[in-house]
Parts: sequence; structure tokens; C-alpha cells
Amino acid sequence: MIMKISVAIDGPAGAGKSTIAKLVGKKFDLMYINTGAMYRAVALLAKRNGIDTTNIDALMTMIDNMEMHFENDDLILDGVNIQNEITMPEISEIVSNYASIPEVRSKLVTLQRKMSEKYNVIMDGRDIGTVVLKNSKFKFFLTASPEERARRRYTELLNRGLDVNYDKLLEDIIKRDHIDSTRAVDPLKKADDAIEIDSSNYNITEVTEIICNFIENALQ
Ligand code: CDP
Repeated sequence: MIMKISVAIDGPAGAGKSTIAKLVGKKFDLMYINTGAMYRAVALLAKRNGIDTTNIDALMTMIDNMEMHFENDDLILDGVNIQNEITMPEISEIVSNYASIPEVRSKLVTLQRKMSEKYNVIMDGRDIGTVVLKNSKFKFFLTASPEERARRRYTELLNRGLDVNYDKLLEDIIKRDHIDSTRAVDPLKKADDAIEIDSSNYNITEVTEIICNFIENALQ
């Protein structure tokens, strides 16, 4: 019987969390749960239905009726793969406003904890080490300068054929970091027992190796 493990990866926007979480997840056969995708799905559906951030009752009903699960690292909402849509800049611009609502967080945190009870998971987000997987033995906090993070996001979106503007991406990242780290409920914050890795100094392979080595050593 393999022991139950869970891995938490937090950090600001564009720090490389999802790329690294997918690689580490493959290595240890963990289900990758992209919690940012879940907040993005809420923002997408709210936008489609014209529900603004003050209409808490409508948001709660909407979330109760959403079926979300992950398949091959992509978020499936009500049977449809929405990964492409939720990572568009127009969703990035509004997601933090929805993610600041305590009632929205409470619903999504409950869903995320249920997933972690059922599966061995690697989760990335903002409050994984501090709230969702508070008891995890494996917590990592990835950082990089805002300029480096904007550069990565720029390349990523450009490679998808989108028309992107570096300055606008940098502005969005700085704004989102501010909203995420100053909100009243479960703000973006390094857990006291998380290992901080500044990924400006390492490439993806190196960060993945640091994390995998740490987990391997602890499991021995
Ligand atoms: O991919 P990127 O780093 O740009 O962001 P993300 O992980 O997709 O998260 C999008 C947004 O969702 C964040 O800016 C937060 O506002 C919110 N979020 C959150 O509040 N808590 C989480 N556990 C994950 C994301």
C-alpha cells in the first residue's frame, strides 16, 4: 500500500507553478489539481451569465450547479474542456475579484479538500500550504520577479497565437498579486513550513529536481 501523500505549491501569478506541478505529479503519480483553474472557471461562468461580484446568492447557486473535474491536467466544466478559454487574458483580468469573495473561497476549498481526500494530489494555488492542505508535509513556495513572470506569460500566450502586450501583462500580474496578497480571507502568503524557491535563478528542470529530490528524501 502506497502511503497517502499530498504536495502543495503556492506562489504569485506566473511563477511556473503549473508547469512544475505537472512534472512533479507525473513523477510521483499524483493527480494535478490546478486550483487557479477552478477560480478561473467561476469567473468565466459568472462573466457569461452576467453575474457580478456583489451578487453572492447568484454566485453560490451557480457554483452549486457546476461540475468540475480534471482530466489529463485540464479542467472539465460540465463535460467541456475549458482550459483554453479560462487562461485568456480577459479572464485573468477579472478572476482575482471573484477569488476575493469569502463565500466563493469556502465552496472551492471544500471541493479541493474532497479531491485531496480521495486521491494523492499535487495542488497549486495561493492558499494551498496555508489553508487547503495545511497538514501536508510537502509545501513549496515559488517566486520570481514580476518582470520575469510577465516575460514567461508573454512567451506562453504568444506561442498560442494570441496578440499580447508585455506591458499590459506585467501590469495585470502586479495588480493580481496585490489583490491576492492583500485580501482579507486566505491571502497569498508563504506557509511558515514551506520551502521557498526563487525560480529566476533556476530553469524548470532544476526547480522540478529540487522539489522531487526533497520529496524522495523525505519518503525514504
Ligand atoms: O496561472 P496564474 O499564476 O496566472 O494564476 P492561477 O493560478 O490560474 O490563479 C488565478 C487567480 O485565481 C489568482 O490570481 C487568484 O486570484 C485566484 N486563486 C486563488 O485565490 N486561490 C487559489 N488557490 C488559486 C488561485
